[in-house]
Amino acid sequence: MSRARPLVTIDGPAGAGKSTVSRALAARLGFTYLDTGALYRTVALCVLEDPELASSLSEAGIARGVEERLGTLTRGLDIRFGDAGTRVWVGDREVTGEIRTPAISQAASRVSAVPAVREGLLDLQRRLAAEGGVVAEGRDVGTVVFPGADVKFYLTADVGCRAERRAAELRARGVEVDLAATRREIEERDARDEGREAAPLRRPEGAIEVDSGPLTADEVLTRMAMVVRSREGS
Ligand code: DC
Repeated sequence: MSRARPLVTIDGPAGAGKSTVSRALAARLGFTYLDTGALYRTVALCVLEDPELASSLSEAGIARGVEERLGTLTRGLDIRFGDAGTRVWVGDREVTGEIRTPAISQAASRVSAVPAVREGLLDLQRRLAAEGGVVAEGRDVGTVVFPGADVKFYLTADVGCRAERRAAELRARGVEVDLAATRREIEERDARDEGREAAPLRRPEGAIEVDSGPLTADEVLTRMAMVVRSREGS
C-alpha cells in the first residue's frame, strides 16, 4: 500500500483512553480519526433491533447458523462518519449517542467475535484509510486490518484505573454507574476481546507500548505526536 501520509494505529483494551487520545492525536496532526469500535457498536445496535438476531446473542456467543445472516447484515450496512470522525450514521439515521451505552458495549464485544462480522467490516476500514493521514483506533487495527501501518501504538493501563476512567466518562454523560459493576464489565470484555479466536486483542508486533495509568491524556498525546512526527521526518 503506498500512502502519501502516515497511517497510525492505536490498539488496546477497553478504558485505556484510546478514544480521547486518538481523537486528539488526529486533530493535532491534521489527520482523519477512524473509530473502528464505532463500527462494531453500530453493527451491535442493528443486531439488537432484529428480535431474531438479538436472541442469538447469548452468553455462549452466537449460534452457528446465524453467522451468515450476521455477515450479510454487516456488509449491507451503510455506515458513515462525520464531524472529524466523531459522529456516526447508519443510512440517514444518526446513532452517535445510542451506540455508547453499556448494553451496546457488551453486545459489540459479542458480535465482534464473529468472523463474518469482522470480515464484513474489513473492506470499509481499509477504504476509509486508503489515503493515509489517518489515526485508526481499535483492537486489531495494528495486527489484522492494517499490519503495514507506519506507526503502531498499544495503549494500556491496569484494570482498576481503566474502570475508574470509564465510570467517570459515563457519569459525565449522565449515566448512573457503579464502579464495581463497571470493573466487572471491563474484565468480561477484556476476557472476550483477548480470548476470541478471530483477531484477538494483542500487542501488535513493532508497536510502541504506552501505559496510560501514570500519565495524563495530554502527556500520552504529546509522546505519540512526537513519535509520529519523528517518523514522518525520517
Ligand atoms: O473500542 P470500543 O469500546 O468502542 O469497542 C467496542 C467493542 O468492539 C470491543 O469490546 C471489541 C470490538 N472491537 C473489535 O473487536 N475490534 C476493533 N478493531 C474495535 C472494536
